[in-house]
Amino acid sequence: MKHLIDLWLFCLTATTLTACTSTNKGEKDTLKGALEGKFYIGAALNANQITGKDTLGVQVLQKHFSSIVPENCMKPGELRRTMDSEYNFTLADQYVELGEQNKMFIIGHCLLWHSQLTQGFCQDEQGENVSPEILKARMKAHISTVVGRYKGRVNGWDVVNEAILEDGSYRNSRFYQILGEEFIPLAFQYAHEADPNAELYYNDYNEWYSGRRETVKRLIRTLKSRGLRIDAIGLQGHIDMEKPSIKEYEETILDYHNEGVKVMVTEFDISILPVARQGIGADLATNIEYQQLYNPYTEGVPEDVSLAWNNRMREWFQLFLKHSDKISRVTTWGISDRYSWKNNFPVRGRTDYPLLFDRNYEAKPVVQMIINDAK
Ligand code: GLA
Repeated sequence: MKHLIDLWLFCLTATTLTACTSTNKGEKDTLKGALEGKFYIGAALNANQITGKDTLGVQVLQKHFSSIVPENCMKPGELRRTMDSEYNFTLADQYVELGEQNKMFIIGHCLLWHSQLTQGFCQDEQGENVSPEILKARMKAHISTVVGRYKGRVNGWDVVNEAILEDGSYRNSRFYQILGEEFIPLAFQYAHEADPNAELYYNDYNEWYSGRRETVKRLIRTLKSRGLRIDAIGLQGHIDMEKPSIKEYEETILDYHNEGVKVMVTEFDISILPVARQGIGADLATNIEYQQLYNPYTEGVPEDVSLAWNNRMREWFQLFLKHSDKISRVTTWGISDRYSWKNNFPVRGRTDYPLLFDRNYEAKPVVQMIINDAK
């Protein structure tokens, strides 16, 4: 009771309206309201959401989410298809405006990645790798063009995405072939020069594998020892009903936290489907047995399976809440199951249910559970 009176007195005397409005019941009944002060709750946006065509999606976004990341439109290959073409910032500009209009924490994703890269970024006209000097100049030009354009507007950047493998070795990308491990510190340096106030992140997947994690930790130490900015490590968190265990994920959070960086869950979704190997797509289209095995929920999810999924999602958010002092953001990779990439990965044409909102943008039961757990 004393607590309530104190809160009421605080609201009466508070000089800013926002301090009081943030405790409104209505606001607290949303994900972003309930999680306020704990971590940002983010969503990845596709083109229809960015342009406002997906009106229901935008409504859910505005109601429940406090941060955004672009699913594709800021990747180098989307901004500029080939080294000969001009940059096209139309969608990226709209994305940043949407975030500003809704006072969201805006993420730029991603500056360098071996995939969805501008064609020819690392090669000469004969298709051979360019020299280290040329690649450095291209990286610097790209990073300063993109980060510089949104200076003071994009709050944090995924500087490098997926450069380290599960066994701890570096991915043999062209960046690595040409510049070795140095390409990562260089990218961080260029990004910091382009916007000294922006947060900078390294982002990867399956970081519960100790090999990858050890190398990421070494990378953090290298960046720090050189005085380069690194704010957080992104754990993508595309998981399924079997793997990983809560314990493995928790160890990863603690491990990175002990290196003195924040942890962000950057691309979270939980596939409900049986794990299937890449490449069975063609068989799946024609083989009924495969369909029953690997794509079993085309007409909806049985109650026990749905319950198990909601419970697993809840457990994960309980873990995030437990470590909210270490986690700065949790972002789901999409808003609604309808548009999730998991419907087409690792096998095309399946019906998956990995996100917090269903195909009709209705909140799944876990949404209210998360809100209650967070209060
Ligand atoms: C990776 C990337 C994301 C996205 C997903 C698949 O996790 O970081 O940008 O492309 O793959 O959609």
